[in-house]
Amino acid sequence: MIDEQTPAVDLALFGALGDLALRKLYTALYQLDREGLLASETRILGLARQEYEIDAFRARVRDALETRVPANERTEESVMRFLDRLHYAEVDFSTLEGYNMIGEWRKGRASNIPLTIYLSVPARIYGDICHNLQAAGCLDEQSRVVVEKPIGYDLKSSIEINDAIGAVFDESRIYRIDHYLGKETVQNLLALRFANPLFGNQWNQGKISHVEITVAETVGIEGRWGYFDQAGQLRDMVQNHLMQLLCMIAMEPPSSLDSDSIRDEKVKVLKALRPIEGERLSTDVVRGQYIAGSVGGKQVPGYLEEEGANTESKTETFVAFKTEVANWRWAGVPFYLRTGKRMPEKLSQIVIHFRQQPHYIFDPDQRLLATNKLIIKLQPDEGIDLQVLTKDSGLDAGMRLRTGPLNLDFHQAFPQARIPDAYERLILEVMKGQQYLFVRRDEIESSWRWVDKLIDGWESRGIPPKRYPAGSWGPVSSIAMITQDGRSWYEDY
Ligand code: BG6
Repeated sequence: MIDEQTPAVDLALFGALGDLALRKLYTALYQLDREGLLASETRILGLARQEYEIDAFRARVRDALETRVPANERTEESVMRFLDRLHYAEVDFSTLEGYNMIGEWRKGRASNIPLTIYLSVPARIYGDICHNLQAAGCLDEQSRVVVEKPIGYDLKSSIEINDAIGAVFDESRIYRIDHYLGKETVQNLLALRFANPLFGNQWNQGKISHVEITVAETVGIEGRWGYFDQAGQLRDMVQNHLMQLLCMIAMEPPSSLDSDSIRDEKVKVLKALRPIEGERLSTDVVRGQYIAGSVGGKQVPGYLEEEGANTESKTETFVAFKTEVANWRWAGVPFYLRTGKRMPEKLSQIVIHFRQQPHYIFDPDQRLLATNKLIIKLQPDEGIDLQVLTKDSGLDAGMRLRTGPLNLDFHQAFPQARIPDAYERLILEVMKGQQYLFVRRDEIESSWRWVDKLIDGWESRGIPPKRYPAGSWGPVSSIAMITQDGRSWYEDY
């Protein structure tokens, strides 16, 4: 069944043969189609430099679907229906001529079917493509553009890129992707925080002692050494994904669910984030770089031994830091964040540690146990655990306490429901013209301002990364950073 609730679009995908398109975008579009969420009129035009006949292009996409989509979610009919929507054009993105193709493709289309440009290409050419699209007369008031991270390398370059896109598209038509915002559990943070009075009343410095955010990956550099070495984990993961998670946890309640209400509140968090500078550079942040080790029982090389590596590189593959949101709600509550490549597990989770009761009456040895924790698991097993204290059972247990979860495992609670990939949600929102899951320009720039200060500090002090073996939780100093405050990373894997 086709859901005509989703408006039809003409999607022009730049970088149609690139890694992201083949790994994520066709799969996401296919799943939307299979679920009946693509309007029957929706079409997709793949644009890339390579020469391809349409049949060869469709065969390439079919291969991608066969690799990525589980067999029980594919039928010949659903695959064919999707492939029929695909068109292809060879374009040299830097010259105007190729863009006429887009005009040709759009001929005769109803004016209410907007041209939606998806830029899955390096950000340095966003400006040229937008300019050429305009110069070739492809755009009108309804056209939209979707852009991928990273937008720039620092504040200055992000301003240049945003200026170039903004010269052609109004902010209300720019969709900046941070795929973490499309993850089911991340969206659930809005429901959890703002629909449950239970948490609404507890969400402040009076009730919460500290917050942890961990985004750990088992993968290394995956053949992207050239890109990654220029960026490092701070730019690649913290500037965007971890900052967005932090904003979702720390933001004030928006006045409504509309895009700007939400994004206004997120920007305030970024502006209130205490910078790491001066002495804090030695106490509140740890950079790491992995050396050879073992992940999941498999021996893996160190960062400097990866293919294409510059053996002198000082780029970090791990970063942990402590910060604070300097406002009335959060004053004095540390936020501990860490993210790294080649960790023992793929794990993204947020742990909210609530304060202890003002007066304690149970076994003195169990005092440290006596707090509640809310564990929000983003991946791999999406769910929410509230750790509560109960009495240990049995006649001989006396009033000993034990901690156990009130658990909402999304897979168990909703066994029929497939948890959609982040890109499915995000592409659907673009089609609907809703921006609340996309990052506004001032969010990106506020985040870069904070990150740039930290990088300047590292550079001016010449702070190199500390080594950590692949398959460990990062340099030992990242553990010391939290234990010196009398706390530890929550480890219940
Ligand atoms: C990307 C980063 O944005 O996110 C990658 O560039 C990283 O380096 C990836 O591996 C992680 O995404 P996910 O969804 O697998 O956690």
